[in-house]
Amino acid sequence: MHYPFWDQPIGYGVLMATIAVFHVFVSHFAIGGGLYLVVNEHFARRAGDAQRLEFLEKLSKFFVLATLVAGALTGVAIWFVIGLLAPAATEALIHNYVWGWAIEWTFFVVEIAAAMVYYYGWKRMTARAHLTVGWIYFVAAWLSLVIINGILTFMLTPGRWLATGDFWDGFFDPTYWPSLVLRTGVCVMLAGLYALLVASRLEPGDFKAKTVRQAAGWSLAGLAATVLSQVWYWKAIPADITAKALQVMPTPIRSIEISFWLAGAIALGMVALAAFAPRKLGTTVALAFMALGLAWFGAFEWSRESLRKPYIITGYIYGNGAEVGEAENYKRDGYLAQIPYRTGDEGADLFRHACRNCHTLEGYKALKPAFDGTDRAFIAAIVQGTQHLKGNMPPFLGTPAEAELIADHLDQRIDKRPLADIYKLDGRLLGRKVYDIRCGKCHVLGTDSDKSKSLAGQSAEDLNGLLDMAANLGEGMPAFTADAAERKALVAYLQTLGKGGRP
Ligand code: HEC
Ligand code: HEC
Repeated sequence: MHYPFWDQPIGYGVLMATIAVFHVFVSHFAIGGGLYLVVNEHFARRAGDAQRLEFLEKLSKFFVLATLVAGALTGVAIWFVIGLLAPAATEALIHNYVWGWAIEWTFFVVEIAAAMVYYYGWKRMTARAHLTVGWIYFVAAWLSLVIINGILTFMLTPGRWLATGDFWDGFFDPTYWPSLVLRTGVCVMLAGLYALLVASRLEPGDFKAKTVRQAAGWSLAGLAATVLSQVWYWKAIPADITAKALQVMPTPIRSIEISFWLAGAIALGMVALAAFAPRKLGTTVALAFMALGLAWFGAFEWSRESLRKPYIITGYIYGNGAEVGEAENYKRDGYLAQIPYRTGDEGADLFRHACRNCHTLEGYKALKPAFDGTDRAFIAAIVQGTQHLKGNMPPFLGTPAEAELIADHLDQRIDKRPLADIYKLDGRLLGRKVYDIRCGKCHVLGTDSDKSKSLAGQSAEDLNGLLDMAANLGEGMPAFTADAAERKALVAYLQTLGKGGRP
């Protein structure tokens, strides 16, 4: 089940997001662009508008190149990356959706063939045959979205599939329809943005103005469908996921807010462009709109992916590839027993499989700074209590002995000096640092997990007593193992917190 691990310095999430966002951008645009081309060709032929036909031919050239080459390459790249970073989840998706994928690829082949015939056929085919090929292109491209949408939405909201294991339950899952409308809207919006880019290179004049206005209209129409269905989409997600997100998951919520701001910016920009400057549109501005579109897409996909935490397939596989249904076996037989490819360094193997999918040591979501200045006992307690920490992490599913092995592995790689020396701090700032490192990972100030109010008014003596029995205060709470100076600084800091003082 577990492939040899792929150690690379970038966080997996970032790597995946970069490739995937670019891929979905290109592939949605490939669908919307197809629609834009055939609809416009239809009207241009009816009106005998040679200038527009020439423009469309130009549009289709870069369109075919960009979508086929970039789409196909990034699509293959996605398979490489997901196979390496989440082999178990990839396997689950393939087992469930192998026919789905076979159908999707069939549509993709039709789409590619039609795109090439369409491009080469402008002068060589009859108008009717050319248009037919165009429609074949668009329909095949959109149908591939119809299929892939069922697989994408399944990962966040597998719905009844979890109980039945039925293909259709997983495919037409709770977010299938809003997501399909949303993504279709995105296709239309991107088609408009792309047409703007090509139009920006036209000579200023009436034709340019007309084309820019019309492309802005496409963008606005697509955007309207997108924004409305994003609200519908949010409502279709099971309430426990959205409630938890609003409570403890700042990342997806912020991404959604950003996506609405970006949608607003694009909409305003389109209206302004169509109203005031359709003749003057330059390539820089058109590129800036493309960038806004890409950013919008990034924000939306980021929210979808981060809402899923701590799972990669909600309720079925955790973000580190551990299967929810196997949890009892992992706890009984140990997590190592589930890792067929071992390097001989057990601590490193365990760390890779339990944590490394989401964390690096010193790069993205780095763990070294989170543990610098602490000790092995503290790290071992944290490893076993990951589900109590901020970040909505999966629980650690190995045995206590395995948690110790991970702690050893990390302990050998951290800075062992006291926090005062590492960060050159003393007094209140030192106390605050001790809090952040030793308490704030679980008790985030200002959230439900904040305990500072219950500490209000306690004497230094009482607080010291509390730290003495820290390991008994709650399941998963570590013993307090810092030195005397850090303890003193923390107690003083907790007293100021209790008085309502903020960091
Ligand atoms: C599914 C992804 C995922 C896995 C697996 C995971 N974590 Fe995390 N972890 C997170 C996220 C997300 C955060 C929150 C980061 C933030 O708030 O900046 C986090 C936060 C943390 C923090 C707090 C960091 C800080 O700034 O104080 C620690 C410590 C930590 N994780 C340790 C671990 C350990 C040890 C493991 C393995 C046993 C692990 N994590 C596995 C996603 C994960
Ligand atoms: C690994 C996570 C974790 C860390 C780190 C942690 N705690 Fe806790 N703490 C818990 C849990 C879990 C509980 C019990 C559940 C609850 O009360 O929310 C708890 C409970 C408490 C309580 C409430 C006890 C009660 O009876 O109401 C206090 C006070 C507290 N912790 C203070 C601290 C202080 C101070 C630190 C830093 C020295 C700290 N905690 C570090 C997880 C943690």
